[in-house]
Amino acid sequence: MQVCVIGTGYVGLVTGTCLSYLGHDVVCVDNNPAKIDQLRAGESPIYEPGLSELLTHCIKQGGAQKGTLRFSMSIEEGVRPADVVFIAVGTPPQPSGEPDLQYVEAVARAIGAALDASKPRVIVNKSTVPIGSGNWVEMLVREGIHSLQPASQRGTGSLGYGQADGPVFMVASNPEFLREGSAIGDTLYPDRIVVGAHEPEALSMLRQLYAPILEQTFKAPSVAVRPEGFGAVPLVTTDLQSAEMIKYAANAFLATKISFANEIANLCEKVGADVVEVARGIGLDARIGQRFLNAGAGWGGSCFGKDVSALVSIAREYGYEPQMLKATIEVNHAQRQRIVQKLQDQLKIVKGKTIGLMGLAFKPNTDDLRDAPALDIARTLLKMGARIKGYDPIAMEACKRQHPELDLVYAADPVDLAWGCDAIVAVTEWDEFKRLDLAQLKAVMRSNVLVDARNIYDPATAEHDGFVYVGVGR
Ligand SMILES: NC(=O)c1ccc[n+]([C@@H]2O[C@H](COP(=O)([O-])OP(=O)(O)OC[C@H]3O[C@@H](n4cnc5c(N)ncnc54)[C@H](O)[C@@H]3O)[C@@H](O)[C@H]2O)c1
Repeated sequence: MQVCVIGTGYVGLVTGTCLSYLGHDVVCVDNNPAKIDQLRAGESPIYEPGLSELLTHCIKQGGAQKGTLRFSMSIEEGVRPADVVFIAVGTPPQPSGEPDLQYVEAVARAIGAALDASKPRVIVNKSTVPIGSGNWVEMLVREGIHSLQPASQRGTGSLGYGQADGPVFMVASNPEFLREGSAIGDTLYPDRIVVGAHEPEALSMLRQLYAPILEQTFKAPSVAVRPEGFGAVPLVTTDLQSAEMIKYAANAFLATKISFANEIANLCEKVGADVVEVARGIGLDARIGQRFLNAGAGWGGSCFGKDVSALVSIAREYGYEPQMLKATIEVNHAQRQRIVQKLQDQLKIVKGKTIGLMGLAFKPNTDDLRDAPALDIARTLLKMGARIKGYDPIAMEACKRQHPELDLVYAADPVDLAWGCDAIVAVTEWDEFKRLDLAQLKAVMRSNVLVDARNIYDPATAEHDGFVYVGVGR
């Protein structure tokens, strides 16, 4: 199929590249010229394991089934040939908690202005948007058609209801569940694909688009090997609102699970229990499950905070006060401050002390710093008068670029980070940190506090290596 993906961030770029790999002809559009230049040169503007290799493969040789992949600054160039147009632009949070929909709005109008009557198209919202946005996008596309196209080419939305000679389009919601750090595997081997639309034609076009994934008929790329025993993928087809709600509910549930683990961890500290044992003990119950039960510095990233806050605003818009969602956010916020409190408990005076943060990205295997706990912790400690050093295997350049206001001393490696520190904090659970020789770090430090904000070290080993070890909930 002919596909256009608008927005080449974490979601759009991975989606476009994977669809091209599966054999579709894809045009990825972005309004950031630097990104498009980089992509045309075969370079990925983001760090995502395997993406550069897959990108190069699709640009140079075509996808596995000879799909093509091109990049453009022009929405019109992408939309005109397309059967399916994805909106994958950002929906960042505003101070009120509501998502900022200006990028979706601009793109929806521009799609409308670019549509012609050559074929029916499905416009798919992949950006995470408030419930009801499908109808809103349909209205904006229609306004785009009316504002910029001559009367002879105007159509009106849904298939069957448009003028015979005007553009015909349908709007669908196809929420994205990929995780940064494993985005290609998550796209090619998802737990499910969710598609919401009012028109059966839209659902059937998207079923056709995703057929290689649903039936797992493609040859697995070397950068994302098919998990053993992985079979057909369930397709959940539903109405627009339910698809939009599925995305919010999924993220709210996962965020709540982590906040729950953190609340239990805080209680474990009071009663002398070990949350790592407790999480294993409850997680083995198949009704609960092991994943997303790790206590620590709390969740971050571009999605959880934004999406849970958006759901709170949506609830309030309907006169409903969502107690559990509010608590999920509050526990998470407090958890970051608890890490600072742990440092204060050990160092007593933080002012004038040097503290090393191991890990800046919000989680391992990404350079994404959006709502990263490390940044919040650094800001609070800097305000308290500490000197902060930082090291991250991938995200340091992004941090320097995006947060020039943060007065961090960047280290070359973990030993360089530890050098002269009174305390070090493991904030992001990169594999590189799990394998460290702690004694080597201790040897170059001024004092000996290790706050293990992700519970990645064995307390006895850390103590044996000379550290005062402080974990979370243990
Ligand atoms: N990042 C994730 O892990 C993830 C996972 C699931 C869902 N989502 C959702 O997907 C959406 C996109 O997220 P992301 O992380 O990929 O965002 P991002 O900020 O990384 O990328 C968005 C891209 O859209 C481009 N853009 C903005 N306005 C444009 C316009 N008018 N024309 C063309 N391009 C434009 C930007 O230049 C940028 O490259 C969000 O709604 C997010 O909530 C993200």
